[in-house]
Amino acid sequence: MTSYGQELRSTALAMVARGKGLLAIDESNGTCNKRFKKLDIPATEENRRAYRELILTTPHLADYINGLILYDETIRQMTKEGTPFVQIIKNAGMIPGIKLDTGAKDLAGHQGEKVTEGLDLLRDRIAEYYEMGARFAKWRAVLTIGDKAPSDACIEANAHALARYAALCQEGGLVPIVEPEVLIDGEHTLERCYQVTDKTLHSVFCQLYSQGVEFEQMVLKPNMVLAGQECSQQSTPDAVAETTVKCLLKNVPAAVSGVAFLSGGQSSEKASAHLSLMNERFGDQCPWPLTFSYGRAIQQPALDHWRGDSHQVSEAQQRLLHRAKCNSLASLGKYSSTMDRERDRP
Ligand code: G3H
Repeated sequence: MTSYGQELRSTALAMVARGKGLLAIDESNGTCNKRFKKLDIPATEENRRAYRELILTTPHLADYINGLILYDETIRQMTKEGTPFVQIIKNAGMIPGIKLDTGAKDLAGHQGEKVTEGLDLLRDRIAEYYEMGARFAKWRAVLTIGDKAPSDACIEANAHALARYAALCQEGGLVPIVEPEVLIDGEHTLERCYQVTDKTLHSVFCQLYSQGVEFEQMVLKPNMVLAGQECSQQSTPDAVAETTVKCLLKNVPAAVSGVAFLSGGQSSEKASAHLSLMNERFGDQCPWPLTFSYGRAIQQPALDHWRGDSHQVSEAQQRLLHRAKCNSLASLGKYSSTMDRERDRP
């Protein structure tokens, strides 16, 4: 155990405290700009700052959110009045976190496959972010399902990098969120997603074990097991809930502090419904809390409404809060789609 052992354990437990989850606002500048472009929002630093301020200053956000994942630019930013974002988060009783990977790059010799980079100088970056107030971190690996993909080489390279990152985080006082994302893109079936997620999680936990990562001081951020977006036979919510929990129970040690799913391109409503069903049907069989660490599934309705217009901030915040509340209820198995229908009623 590192010198931060107790602190890491209490942070990890606070990140997945029952009835709340995490909000990912750690899009790189490139990704954030792409999302802005789709809505004709000018891709400027000031717009990225204003958008993140809108999110962080949403009244009552802390009723549903335990912590937020920030990006390097965002963790250094402030509100218009000059209060650092990290301070806003802490004052509201939430925990600031930071994305540490530097993105998924082409894996040499494996066309179409990616390996996530960012290990160089990571120890120093962790020390800097800890000093700035971050108490947890995220690293996302991406695995694409194709005819012959993902290859063993891709799974192993990504699992190894995740484990090296996680060990460095624990050494430096940050709780690692370990995120191996099997992408939703493609025509694959639910069964194929299960096979790939199963193999990936197995490899990730072998590597975490080899690198000496303390499972009690980490949070897993997996994909749900779903048919690919272009698959002609879409999965039923029951199948998603059942298959996802089966895959987790098989591969995730009970000692892990919590499981906080990514939304991965599911609609906001589906991401809430799937999480809720898992908790409702299987919550009592799982040794870890099942909660959310969503980006798009919480942010998108707010971004769609805001579109860079300062007059829309308050309504956009209401939309963000609504999704945060839906997912908070989902983490307790109590979300119902009528909550969305009622809100959308004119
Ligand atoms: O790494 C991915 C984000 O932290 C979660 O994003 O919920 O939009 O997939 P998502």
